[in-house]
Amino acid sequence: MARLSRRTFLAATAATALVRPALAAGTPELRAAPGRAQLAPAGYGPTPVWGYDGGVPGPAIRLRQGGHVARRLVNDLPQATTVHWHGVRVANAMDGVPGLTQDAVEPGAAFDYAFSVPDAGTYWYHPHNRTWEQLARGLYGALIVDEAEGAPEVDADEVLLIDDWRFAEDATLHESFGDLHDWSHAGRLGNWVTVNGVSDWTKRVDHGARLRLRLVNTANARMFPLVLRGLSAWVVALDGQPVAAPYEAGELVLAPAQRVDLIADVTAAPGETAHVLERDRDGLLAVAEFRVEGTLRAAALPPPAALPPNPVPALGPLDDAPRTVLRMEGGAMGGMMAAMMGGQRMALRDLAGQGKVWAFNGSVDMPEAPLVEADRGTTVRIAMVNDTAFPHAMHLHGHHFRVLGPDGPGPLRDTALVDRGETAEIAFVADNPGDWALHCHMVEHAEAGMMTWLRVG
Ligand code: C2O
Ligand code: CU
Repeated sequence: MARLSRRTFLAATAATALVRPALAAGTPELRAAPGRAQLAPAGYGPTPVWGYDGGVPGPAIRLRQGGHVARRLVNDLPQATTVHWHGVRVANAMDGVPGLTQDAVEPGAAFDYAFSVPDAGTYWYHPHNRTWEQLARGLYGALIVDEAEGAPEVDADEVLLIDDWRFAEDATLHESFGDLHDWSHAGRLGNWVTVNGVSDWTKRVDHGARLRLRLVNTANARMFPLVLRGLSAWVVALDGQPVAAPYEAGELVLAPAQRVDLIADVTAAPGETAHVLERDRDGLLAVAEFRVEGTLRAAALPPPAALPPNPVPALGPLDDAPRTVLRMEGGAMGGMMAAMMGGQRMALRDLAGQGKVWAFNGSVDMPEAPLVEADRGTTVRIAMVNDTAFPHAMHLHGHHFRVLGPDGPGPLRDTALVDRGETAEIAFVADNPGDWALHCHMVEHAEAGMMTWLRVG
């Protein structure tokens, strides 16, 4: 047999395509696989990771609102996995939660995801099995849905997937997955930040340019308090959902899994650098850099208009809505003595022996019975009481909710940060039938017990 040169290989592929046109029309693959990524600065080697299509981040999925996503997940990992399309109001069977909406996809197996996308906005995808390991190893990507109409006019539209890695000294991933100290405290916190899988994410811009920045926190557990310099910015969407009235962006706290869309005008002068910075104990650290070259516009643009609203149903009367309490318990300094697990009451030390240190309403892990059973279309209220010594980023699947504040319902979100000692009461219309997870998105906390579910009939 002749050696296969690149040319003959291409010719062979073309011929194959001719006789098998179905291949071209088939479902595109999304391969979860080990790979390498140059996460650390030059001077270090590439980091062995797990990534979609072997890279970090995985391929960006971008489509127009109302469009359809179809991907065949192929599992080339050494363990079972799924994909969850975070924040997208998908049909339940496509939600990617093992044990609730599907079985985990075993190594070597595949699963076809196909769903339509009702809302424009900034979303992302990640595994929902052993998320504490698979997300930390690099499995995530952006899912961007462009407005069907009324998209804001901008000079550039940038997605910034902000991640936190725990590196060993040689920039390999620190193998401390499953560390009970992390799990019972703030989660797996890292020591290195990347944007879109690189250490020095930089973009050239012009003074006066209007940018749309889509910031996504893809970290396991780290919260990013962010400040902007050299940019005049407005918040136009949270967790993909447009805010009713854009407001000037001060310091922004992005909890794990949260997103914020900004319209940001470059105010730094040519020759200067504008920044997205993280406020840290030690000061401000650069997250993303915008090097200003020329001048696009000398005069400031008017503030941006609101983005067109998504078709999320309006809340019904809150006084008539059934109200459920979800009490978060456990963790270090939490004082939890015991909790139910698998129908049995267990002392904390026995729970900890199984890696379970957090609870919702006195029970760890997905309970037998749903926290809430709602008829389709009803408005549901859940008061999430944080009775622990740590903040938690609470995420509801399949729906977007509003946190009820003193001034009424807040903006639509899918992930809400609930500080220690705080109660956040959420309300949403249970319009998406199926079984939906509700959990902490500090993913170690979820695995260590903070997981429940809702049934929408
Ligand atoms: Cu982003 Cu249940 O997850
Ligand atoms: Cu938590």
